[in-house]
Amino acid sequence: MQAVNRARSALTRAAIRARQRNEGPPRTTRDSLAQWARANVPDRDLIVLSNREPYSHRRNGDGLVAVRNAGGLTVALDAVMQALGGVWVAHGSGEADRDAVDANDRVACPPGKPRYTLRRLWLDAEEQAGYYSGFANSALWPLCHVVYVRPRFELSDWEQYQAVNRRFAEAAVAEAAGRPALVFIQDYHLALAARYIKEARPDIQVALFWHIPWPNPEAFRVLPWGRDILEGMLANDVLGFHIRRHALNFLDSVSEALEARVDVERMAVDRGGRRTWVRPFAISVDAEELGALAELPETVKAAERIRRDWRLEDCKVILGVDRLDYTKGLSERFAGIERLLEKYPEWQGRLAFVQIGVPSRIELPEYRAVGESVREWTQKLNDRFPRAGGPTVVLIEGNLDFRELVPYYRLADLCTVTSLHDGMNLVAKEYVAASPDLDGALVLSPFTGAARELARAWIVSPYDREDLADSMHQALVAPVEERRERMRVLRETVLRRNIFDWTLEVLDTIVGLGLQTPEPAASPAAPAPASTPPVIEPRS
Ligand code: UDP
Ligand code: G6P
Repeated sequence: MQAVNRARSALTRAAIRARQRNEGPPRTTRDSLAQWARANVPDRDLIVLSNREPYSHRRNGDGLVAVRNAGGLTVALDAVMQALGGVWVAHGSGEADRDAVDANDRVACPPGKPRYTLRRLWLDAEEQAGYYSGFANSALWPLCHVVYVRPRFELSDWEQYQAVNRRFAEAAVAEAAGRPALVFIQDYHLALAARYIKEARPDIQVALFWHIPWPNPEAFRVLPWGRDILEGMLANDVLGFHIRRHALNFLDSVSEALEARVDVERMAVDRGGRRTWVRPFAISVDAEELGALAELPETVKAAERIRRDWRLEDCKVILGVDRLDYTKGLSERFAGIERLLEKYPEWQGRLAFVQIGVPSRIELPEYRAVGESVREWTQKLNDRFPRAGGPTVVLIEGNLDFRELVPYYRLADLCTVTSLHDGMNLVAKEYVAASPDLDGALVLSPFTGAARELARAWIVSPYDREDLADSMHQALVAPVEERRERMRVLRETVLRRNIFDWTLEVLDTIVGLGLQTPEPAASPAAPAPASTPPVIEPRS
């Protein structure tokens, strides 16, 4: 059976390589991914760990309502878990989350059409403040996104971060319940979890995907606990980043900070008798579903309704969709729109800018300031550039459900993504996927992971206001054939490598190692064996 699996896996790798060369077999689908998992990892439970949960519950009169949380990580992994099933351990952060779970803190997801289990982990206010608002979002987030917001390093935050990472690891080990398992950890909130998992269960395979950029070593070395973070991450069997640059930055950080054998050629780190593979895996979206959703008659009707409600019938519409985060370049975007209206006055009264802004991390002053800034910009541009019938800038502050969001993608003549530094930016890919009529244009920051793949977008630096205004103008007035041709190429790219391809690539890398994993430990809390686990060579 192992030989069969090995052969099948080699075929998969050939397919992946072909896809990376933009050729070859059709994309992975939800069903083919599930089939692949049944054939290749039939004996292992899949356990996902992340801070943010895919759905949270709120009260609605006497009942409960489930809300899908915004953010690239949860949106992407929800599609994966719907395909594969398994357990997803995440912080229960919704006001009515406790009312929705069973005695084991579990709730079936997605609500209404269950395909996997969400196991909620509860954090008290002190843990939440130190681990999430503190170390994750005031230290690691600004450290990794180089946008000139200074990181804050507090010992007490670091202590909470370690403690909460340990709690997540314990939850994963408990969920594995002594069985073989594959734990897939998500993001910068849980950099240490693998280490604690391996201490208890060295046989469990662990991979971490880092959804945000990894900075160069000069930026990283100011972190007082940088060595601990690196050591924690190296407890993973596989470490994923969106792009090669981030993976290489990580390897450079390891070389600078630790005694380790860093093999840049093979992208591997050997340390303490074990090996970690470091790989770029560009995350993507469920492009097919988005395309189908965009084509539904109700989506088209909803888009028409939005146009009517805001009196956008005779306007070109520029769209922005972001969490209200200082990394998204929102001031730069508003300044670019202002310049567009100044420099090309023919757009005044004929153009509207719709910005969907999801409130985010509002307990932190830097984030509240982003909200204030976009409100001020909205007021300023609406005062300066009035439009008959409706406002020039429509600011929608809220977290829209997919079905509410797609009509905006559908109606936009142009979508702007102006991140100053971003791991991937899924909005860029979603917009492309949700434009099946090819009637749209993407203006994209080169400082996003997405820009590596979406080269036919209008790529422009958000720091260059003049160029941003010119690019938006050019994208709007470009001949329809050029707009369609660019969008066709962009859509092909997103359809060719979707979220299920990403998952397959990550899992296939792990499975390549898994054939040689040690036997499961006798009990969930069994101590690590005296001898260190062998270094596992990958299959080529
Ligand atoms: N999103 C959403 N509702 C909204 C706005 C955004 O569900 O009202 C989703 C959007 O569809 C995308 C994600 O939030 O999947 C944002 O991901 P991205 O990678 O662009 O940025 P992040 O928020 O992860 O930094
Ligand atoms: C980014 C991070 C995710 C996070 C999301 C939303 O995408 O990489 O880990 O979940 O932002 O942020 P939040 O703090 O609300 O979870």
